[in-house]
Amino acid sequence: MRELTLEPVPVSNELKAALTCAGLLTDDLEGTDRTYFALVDVDSGVVGYSGIETCDEDSVLLRSVVVIPEFQAQGYGRRLVDLTIARAPVAADVYLATTSAARFFESFGFTPVDRDKAPKAILSTRQLSGLCPASATIMKLNRPPT
Ligand SMILES: CC(C)(COP(=O)(O)OP(=O)(O)OC[C@H]1O[C@@H](n2cnc3c(N)ncnc32)[C@H](O)[C@@H]1OP(=O)(O)O)[C@@H](O)C(=O)NCCC(=O)NCCS
Repeated sequence: MRELTLEPVPVSNELKAALTCAGLLTDDLEGTDRTYFALVDVDSGVVGYSGIETCDEDSVLLRSVVVIPEFQAQGYGRRLVDLTIARAPVAADVYLATTSAARFFESFGFTPVDRDKAPKAILSTRQLSGLCPASATIMKLNRPPT
């Protein structure tokens, strides 16, 4: 069993390089409402990154989810998303936008949401309002009742 930790990290060149390499956005990384994490394997070091953007008191955006290419398809992505969701406020709805990994996120309980049904706070993030293609799938996490 791998020993993995999720550690808060600042915006760094390493984070930007990982996102750029995956074709993910880097123009909107800065902001006090955004927290980024590195998934660290005790043997391999940083294997991926993720972020949470607080949109309002009811909703957060799971963003910047990336596993460094040499570590993909080894189960890190699953752990990265599980551990990051666990950092989101329990009362908040968790949304994301993806152009390529909707099926991956469905396996965590995310389901697609029509753009006109998504909350304004999510639609007005830079990811959704400008940077992310209109064709991106918006998804919401269906969490079991607590
Ligand atoms: C999507 C990503 C994070 C998955 O990371 P990973 O470490 O390769 O994923 P895992 O090894 O944990 O795979 C878990 C499962 O998801 C599946 N999967 C992985 N990437 C997938 C994708 N893009 N679409 C559909 N399914 C995917 C795997 O086949 C695996 O299925 P299994 O459990 O039935 O074997 C990684 O491929 C990546 O960084 N992609 C580029 C960036 C990106 O698209 N981020 C998401 C948008 S924010």
